[in-house]
Amino acid sequence: MRFKNLNLSKFGQRFCSETGIWNLMDDLGKAMHSGGQKLMLGGGNPAAIPIVRDIWRQRMAEILADQALFDSMLGDYHTPQGTPEFLDAIVKLFHNQYGWKLSRENIAVTPGSQMAFYYLVNLLAGEQSDGSFKKILLPLMPEYIGYADQGQAKNIYQSYQPQIDYLDRHTFKYRVDFSSLKLSSDIAGVLVSRPTNPTGNVLTVDEVSRLAQMTKDAGVPLIIDNAYGHPFPDIIFSDITPVWDERIILSMSLSKIGLPGIRTGFVIAQPEVIQAISALNAILALANVNVGQQIITPLIASGEIMDICKNHVRTFYFDRSRLAIDHFHSQMPDSIPYYLHKCEGAMFLWLWLKDSPLPTRELYERLKQRNVIVVPGEYFFFGLDDPWPHTNQCLRINYSHNPQMVKEGLSIIAEECRKIY
Ligand SMILES: Cc1ncc(COP(=O)(O)O)c(C=O)c1O
Repeated sequence: MRFKNLNLSKFGQRFCSETGIWNLMDDLGKAMHSGGQKLMLGGGNPAAIPIVRDIWRQRMAEILADQALFDSMLGDYHTPQGTPEFLDAIVKLFHNQYGWKLSRENIAVTPGSQMAFYYLVNLLAGEQSDGSFKKILLPLMPEYIGYADQGQAKNIYQSYQPQIDYLDRHTFKYRVDFSSLKLSSDIAGVLVSRPTNPTGNVLTVDEVSRLAQMTKDAGVPLIIDNAYGHPFPDIIFSDITPVWDERIILSMSLSKIGLPGIRTGFVIAQPEVIQAISALNAILALANVNVGQQIITPLIASGEIMDICKNHVRTFYFDRSRLAIDHFHSQMPDSIPYYLHKCEGAMFLWLWLKDSPLPTRELYERLKQRNVIVVPGEYFFFGLDDPWPHTNQCLRINYSHNPQMVKEGLSIIAEECRKIY
């Protein structure tokens, strides 16, 4: 119990209890400041890519040299929807790249995309004006830990177990199990991250079009969290074109291109959703942070951001992921029934220790004792109706930081896994 002397409201109790995301971000922040003592394979901090960092530095220098721009960036509130130049740049990029017919009315900036999900799930789900209660459907567990505690109401999610495909002796892939999925009248929307945090899964084109059709038939939105996808940061290892229409709410983030500190995300959606987000921005934050929008606007308007991501960000993560996968396999005996999820994007390896008798929360503690920080898989399963042993058998490992550190951490993880079986 962290609050002994503060009488918290229901809202306070709900949002200030021990949550996975709080523990995760706390561990992340402390490990980042541990002076290199910890092997940081937890958290979702993007990697430091020197050539990309140089681009942000150069943009800052350009802004500093432009007095009017600099003064406006620091000195002005812009509209709760975002700066006009940024909105126009997004319209142009998505029109040029994918032919989408967008206007400014289709885009709203948010203080980080994390905030966009808080807005969206609570705009749609929870108690309705007619007294009924609606939920957000998550068609494929495990899903992003950051959604788990965002509901103002409890039990806001209805989730489904996936189908498991074994791809080879030590690789598997989750797929949406359409045979069990039901979009009943108490569902207010469907939410997926693609690529998925924590697994690195990328829902197939077929899975997305079936979900789009189901949501269209049910008259509810499909929310796609594109924090790792095309066109930026492009941490997705296949050429999958993003999809959007008026029923889809597409969320994007600037964080994983290396800018988590500027707390900027944006949503592409039909105008009424954009107005609702702008209204919430005004009440909760007045306006957005200008810095990220100013840094990135010219790179988006010119399309340069696409080349940066494709040539530097995507290749960087792809190479790092292969190094980590190869190293982990080299440390694990073939006889152990362990599986890595097929790594199709994002910055994580998702390890499944099949039939492990040790819950991964305990494995996490053992690893922490050895200065290796990972995230136990339990946090990524929420909203399921039935208990499922699989939820205690998985671990999320961030593979993207210093390769020496990642290798060392993976070797220790493998050593601890060998002790379990
Ligand atoms: C899938 C996913 N969505 C959204 C977010 C939120 O990111 P941000 O608020 O930095 O845009 C994250 C962060 O790790 C994420 O992994």
